[in-house]
Amino acid sequence: MRIVVTGAASGIGAATVRLLAAQGHQLVCMDRDAAALERVAGAQAAIPLDVSDEGAVIAAFREAGERLGGLDGLATCAGIYETTPFFETTAETFRKVHEVNVIGTFLCLREAARLMAPGSRICTVGSVAGLRGGGLAGTVSYASSKGAVLAMTKNAARALGERGIAVNTVAPGMIETPFVTQPLSDPDIRRRIEGMAIQNRLGTAEEIAQAIAWLLSPQSSFCTGMTLVADGGMVMH
Ligand SMILES: NC(=O)c1ccc[n+]([C@@H]2O[C@H](COP(=O)([O-])OP(=O)(O)OC[C@H]3O[C@@H](n4cnc5c(N)ncnc54)[C@H](O)[C@@H]3O)[C@@H](O)[C@H]2O)c1
Repeated sequence: MRIVVTGAASGIGAATVRLLAAQGHQLVCMDRDAAALERVAGAQAAIPLDVSDEGAVIAAFREAGERLGGLDGLATCAGIYETTPFFETTAETFRKVHEVNVIGTFLCLREAARLMAPGSRICTVGSVAGLRGGGLAGTVSYASSKGAVLAMTKNAARALGERGIAVNTVAPGMIETPFVTQPLSDPDIRRRIEGMAIQNRLGTAEEIAQAIAWLLSPQSSFCTGMTLVADGGMVMH
């Protein structure tokens, strides 16, 4: 398959790039961190991109379509975290998070879908924060942004269904990546979050990459508009 991965330079996106490349897919990797992106992409194509910049997203997907000769899959892993407490959260906090997690995800969905033929598949990255309203370490703006990703995925599944494009989301629990290094550096927070999962541990980026790869593969052919919760038994959605 010809697949674009956003947020490809780190964590879940980087693990997804490694897995999909090992499975023999042809990738275009996108991330705003150009230096790390080059390192992770290796022999695969890399296009530096800020997903919240509409003009840049349009240009990047046009370029990806030209390089790959079309597009069969998209994984939207680019995202940012927010831990500002409720009463200190401002409109600006919300805008910053939603620009990337919500608007950035939407722009990539829209531009990828333009390039796709029937049978193509999209996987977004939500979070259990969007199902439970936060409660791990992310606060109101982050939880709201991930709730929006879950709803956006279902809307996109409806809108793109008539073109034969399937759209699903993976909702990870707490995953050990640079994303959450800061909150997890507090041992009490770490223990509390580990204890919230039946498996009593954090997940790995590789475990989420497996879920993404399955939702991009023909093995998940009867799934669309679905939320695959991969959280070690935290939400049991
Ligand atoms: N780590 C977790 O516990 C966890 C849990 C649930 C959901 N998620 C979600 O998984 C996704 C990936 O998170 P991760 O843990 O791999 O984090 P990460 O910080 O390791 O990777 C995120 C990547 O996104 C890129 N990025 C951020 N803003 C961008 C922008 N505007 N344009 C382009 N690229 C941008 C970063 O440069 C980085 O390479 C995020 O959407 C996150 O919300 C993570």
